[in-house]
Amino acid sequence: MTRFNLYSAEFDANPFDTYKELRDNHPCFWSEDAEKWVLTRYDDVVNALSDWQTYSSAKGNLVDEFPGRAGNTLGTMDPPKHDEVRSIVQSVFMKRNLKHLVGPIQQIARDAIKNNIGDRKVFDFAEDFAGEVTYKVLVALLGLPESEDSTEVKRNALLMVQTDPETRQKGPEHLKAFNWMQDFSTEVIELRAENPGEDLVSQLITAEVDGRKLDLIQVQTTVTTLIMAGIESLAGMLKVFGYNMAKYPDQRQKVLDDISLLPGAIEESMRFNSSAQRFRRCLTKDVTLHGQTMKAGDFVILAYGAANRDERKFPNPDVYDVTRPSKGHVGMGGGTHTCLGNSVARLAMKTAMEVFFEEIPHFSLAEPDDRLQWVASSNFRSPVKLLLVRD
Ligand code: HEM
Repeated sequence: MTRFNLYSAEFDANPFDTYKELRDNHPCFWSEDAEKWVLTRYDDVVNALSDWQTYSSAKGNLVDEFPGRAGNTLGTMDPPKHDEVRSIVQSVFMKRNLKHLVGPIQQIARDAIKNNIGDRKVFDFAEDFAGEVTYKVLVALLGLPESEDSTEVKRNALLMVQTDPETRQKGPEHLKAFNWMQDFSTEVIELRAENPGEDLVSQLITAEVDGRKLDLIQVQTTVTTLIMAGIESLAGMLKVFGYNMAKYPDQRQKVLDDISLLPGAIEESMRFNSSAQRFRRCLTKDVTLHGQTMKAGDFVILAYGAANRDERKFPNPDVYDVTRPSKGHVGMGGGTHTCLGNSVARLAMKTAMEVFFEEIPHFSLAEPDDRLQWVASSNFRSPVKLLLVRD
């Protein structure tokens, strides 16, 4: 019997062999460990993403959800409410010309290298670069107060995406982190209500669609989610990209030889080992798939990370190839809930990595792959620390 122990360090370190086993032999799998169905084939995941009427997000999209979050934030609403709120938040994302962030992101990346890495031969790409760049980008984007202790915000964002491996639920420390972030969001909202700026939170407070504003709890939970989603997904994806560039030096060399390959290399990382591995849906009616009947009310894990390695869709899926035309990956989800931060995330990664390659083009993993510790999360996957050594 195939095990799908979402809550083990072994699975965090390498989910890909299990994914293959599931795709080939149990494409619609009931996991005793997670007490949820697991879909791993590309076509099944994409079909589910386009059928929100059946695969609902309204009971939460985190594999292990927080009480009180479902229904109050974009990722946990179904249309039509979802579309109304998304158009408000999207209007805020679109109103801003993201290009104005390029200069500040370049500066943020240069400062992170100068202040945190300097001339050191060995450095932690996760803390010194990815975490720092992400946090500062979010400060600029969301209008978070610069005075806030960034370590606390990052610590709580990271706790929010984790699950207690024993109880397989959010534990007290994760709930505490969620509440801390809700309080922090309230502070940010109050600050921006008094001192509005060009930032996203200022605009969220006042944005209207058809004469309607978001209510306070929706603004609060949306800001909390933007901080969590922003910090963990973006920092995680930057870490994963740094890891791929260190692990596959021939692929990095191709990017260094022709920097126009960088956006494609980032897309390939989102396909190959996206930081966003799995999200959850709840069935609104019985569905029979591959001979299994899933019941209305059952939870289903859509394993984006597994769909992205499906050889039925991507030839040689386990090869990391920066020249692959990897359109169609679901590393940022798809359908109704496609990542709203996708443009800003792509821009931030490209801009920050261009600066990084200018300063530090040649590097390797400073410790063997099997020594890496991966974040213990049922949704996200990235290394906790990423020690790199300059070549
Ligand atoms: C490279 C970094 C990122 C990755 C890999 C990523 C991945 C994802 C994925 C897979 C989803 C779909 C969730 C689902 O299916 O239930 C999603 C949704 C979302 N993401 Fe991202 N994300 C990234 C960066 C960001 C950033 C920087 C922000 C905001 C500042 C953001 C905000 C959101 C929001 C608001 C949603 C919900 C959209 C909706 O339900 O309509 N993401 N993201």
